[in-house]
Amino acid sequence: MPEERLQKILARAGLGSRRACEEIIVAGRVTVAGRVVTELGVKVDPAVAEIRVDGRPVVGERHRYIMLHKPAGYLSGADRRAEYPSWQKLVKAPERLFAVGRLDQDSEGLLLLTNDGRLAHRLTHPRYEHPKTYLVQVAGFPDPRKIRRLQHGVMLDDGPTAPAQVILLRQAPEPFAAGGPASESNRRTSWLRVTLHEGRQRQLRRMVGLLGHPARRVIRVGLGPLELTNLPSGKWRDLTPDEVQALRAAARRGAPTDGPVRQPERTTERQPASTPSTIAIDGPSASGKSTIGALLAEELDYLYFDTGVMYRAITWVALARQVPIADEAAVTALAEQVKLEVLAPTVDDGRDVTVLADGEDITTAIRQPKVERAVSPVSAYRGVRAAMTLQQRRIGQAGRVVMVGRDIGTVVMPDADLKIYLDASVRERANRRYREQLARGEKSDLEQVLAEMKRRDHIDSNRQHAPLTAAPDAIVVDSTALDIDEVLVLVRGLLERWATPKAR
Ligand code: DC
Repeated sequence: MPEERLQKILARAGLGSRRACEEIIVAGRVTVAGRVVTELGVKVDPAVAEIRVDGRPVVGERHRYIMLHKPAGYLSGADRRAEYPSWQKLVKAPERLFAVGRLDQDSEGLLLLTNDGRLAHRLTHPRYEHPKTYLVQVAGFPDPRKIRRLQHGVMLDDGPTAPAQVILLRQAPEPFAAGGPASESNRRTSWLRVTLHEGRQRQLRRMVGLLGHPARRVIRVGLGPLELTNLPSGKWRDLTPDEVQALRAAARRGAPTDGPVRQPERTTERQPASTPSTIAIDGPSASGKSTIGALLAEELDYLYFDTGVMYRAITWVALARQVPIADEAAVTALAEQVKLEVLAPTVDDGRDVTVLADGEDITTAIRQPKVERAVSPVSAYRGVRAAMTLQQRRIGQAGRVVMVGRDIGTVVMPDADLKIYLDASVRERANRRYREQLARGEKSDLEQVLAEMKRRDHIDSNRQHAPLTAAPDAIVVDSTALDIDEVLVLVRGLLERWATPKAR
């Protein structure tokens, strides 16, 4: 990441306006890598610098969720060369926000802005069909037959539309009925309330246009669980905590494969032969395999299963019960006895899975540094691996799974249809882990993380049983210089290639 002024980084982390952050710096409350910085204008790389305010680490960038009532004439994208201004003219926030989904330049209403890429991905992926509700002012008076056609679907040039909810309103909706005496042209219009579960280019305008009632105004008033209420045009506000929670829950509901092991809704219906049914993703720590695996599973409606949580869980139980990590027989006995369950999230705190050991929720605990330090030796034990591999194979046999770990392509599912080995330089991976720890509000030191990462790489790659290595038939993807979206594009390309037998 490029270097940036310290006050800008602090403002983005939610410590106040840039001006307020300058005062914090001048007051001597800020340290960078342990040294107090009081002069303004110092530039640092936010991805690697260890910045603290009053001794507390500064978390990279807080997630921010903003609802904007976009007026017509503004773009939901950010094209500097475009002839219309973008929403960025209306919302001033220090975070790097982007719009979730698009809203046409001539349409109005609810635009969600955030810097939470993962949530945005889940909300916009066509597979999940989050409902969007619009008030549409159309020319003329559509008769009941036309309303029914809109409800059942009309044939557009890119295919039939999916069923939609359409209601003809008796009168203009309150805040949108333009003030003053209704003009002649306004009088010869009607208002519809339409809920769509898909979002093609200018779909709504094309639908009503096709039926002979061109749209005059299109106003989005609902997006998933969010409603545009009492927010004047051109104004914005942060979502309330309840709205954020509802949004997260909706994103998860839309993602049927969030939970690993126990997942009754996984159908046995066969995927077309052109999609690999078992996908193995291996790679070292922080190579991005969990994020990519989870997103890929969502897209394919597959089970996502991160095998690392099982080794972490055993390690946590050993530490909690004071079983010495060096005692192979005792740790192995534990691995054979403890009842591990990896479930869809049971708590709405942004987690991807819930991990239970003998019924106790240890999802957060297994990410602790002490578990991180001890997990490599635990996962090197043959008996521990045997117990875990058995459970993992059973899950893999059902198919339609994206399984992530260190030995999935080599040992757990050697016959996997598609094997990917995701790698990145150790420095880049250490950077990623360091940022994650700061984001969780933990103390962290980049050099220590780097040393620890190298130590774990060494143990994982050199252990006797199932060492970390790319299967000979795995496709190696180096993510050092790529962000998540770029890796995802590459991986989608691998799926397409897989579908073309000649390319296999
Ligand atoms: O992916 P992770 O960092 O959560 O994995 C935790 C540890 O578990 C890691 O040090 C290696 C080990 N592991 C393994 O040996 N085999 C797997 N299939 C998955 C993880």
